[in-house]
Amino acid sequence: MRIAVPAEAKGVETRVAATPETVKKFIGLGASVSIEKGAGLEAGISDADFEAAGATIARSAKDVMKDADIVLKVRRPADAEMKNLKSGAVVVAIMDPYGQEAALAGLAKAGVSAFAMEFMPRITRAQVMDVLSSQANLAGYRAVIDGAAEYGRALPMMMTAAGTVPAARIFIMGVGVAGLQAIATARRMGAVVTATDVRPATKEQVESLGAKFLAVEDDEFRQAQTAGGYAKEMSKEYQAKQAELTASHIAKQDIVITTALIPGRPAPRLVSRAMVESMKAGSVIIDLAVERGGNCELARPGEIVVTDNGVRIVGHLNVPGRLAATSSALYAKNLYAFVETMIDKKEQALAVNWDDELVKATLLTRDGAVVHPNFQPKA
Ligand code: NAI
Repeated sequence: MRIAVPAEAKGVETRVAATPETVKKFIGLGASVSIEKGAGLEAGISDADFEAAGATIARSAKDVMKDADIVLKVRRPADAEMKNLKSGAVVVAIMDPYGQEAALAGLAKAGVSAFAMEFMPRITRAQVMDVLSSQANLAGYRAVIDGAAEYGRALPMMMTAAGTVPAARIFIMGVGVAGLQAIATARRMGAVVTATDVRPATKEQVESLGAKFLAVEDDEFRQAQTAGGYAKEMSKEYQAKQAELTASHIAKQDIVITTALIPGRPAPRLVSRAMVESMKAGSVIIDLAVERGGNCELARPGEIVVTDNGVRIVGHLNVPGRLAATSSALYAKNLYAFVETMIDKKEQALAVNWDDELVKATLLTRDGAVVHPNFQPKA
């Protein structure tokens, strides 16, 4: 049973899909592990570290994938990588499949069983495999660090001989996994923290972290959470009330961190141009939803926009990748936990249980076809 870990695309992805710790564990299950030269460098893992854990280092993408039964990646294999995949191999990654029909067809044509980690059901058994949570948590943390770095003042209140520095005011919009970690981090750094969300369950979570909750709590709010625990898209009327409530609040904030998402929809627009114009010079907006259309009207993917009134709007891409060592460590563990369920420990061989609900939920392609229900041609 051969496991391959190719290097991710340079300049796009800093994370790596295995760590010395997971390499050791896979070897313990009877696998041999091959890592492409330099694959871990940006995540702070040298080839020697991987070798010390028992992996072999392959010189090229082609060599690493040769005869691999299992390919572990952070991102979906690029077109050029497809030809290196062995038919029948298992490929596990964050596949980002929506709107990527050609890439899905490519994976099907390569004959691989491609698994999308982001489709892992959020059930107790699969918590250890939940890449959305492991990565969003770090994005929330990093958003506060990035906000603090862009902000030209200190976050905590300081009483010094030279005068008193007031505590920074930080507002978190969207209190899912990323938002909760952002609140906790901002509190630890001494900021005065407020937060908003449309799901009622978040109110208590915000308050238990020592932050103040702010939201339009009407009938629609009371029904905003879906059975799956996610937010619904709110009505125009609700959005208008929400904007009215948050506008005067945003004008007084030093740092605004937005994390609001709705599954399968563009990110909700929460911070308008007018709101940005109401903010003080030197204020900072960190838009974690920028890759899904952005929560802030003026955010641009991959850019730091500085407005005429001196507000910095940060639209970093791949925020978990800005903490590559930590995000790789957690991602690699998520992968290990899932892949381990596909290995027969006695036979020391790949043995996928195609009826397992985790397999069914995440499997995109198999035996030359796109098999996931979300990507079937419409009848
Ligand atoms: P997400 O990334 O889909 O959205 C982030 C946040 O934005 C959510 O809290 C959402 O309510 C909020 N939001 C959406 N529209 C908004 C609007 N118009 N204004 C303000 N806020 C808005 O959410 P994430 O982080 O994936 O969490 C979703 C749920 O899943 C939560 O209830 C979380 O506790 C739950 N969860 C469950 C897990 C499990 O059972 N294993 C693991 C992780 C999360």
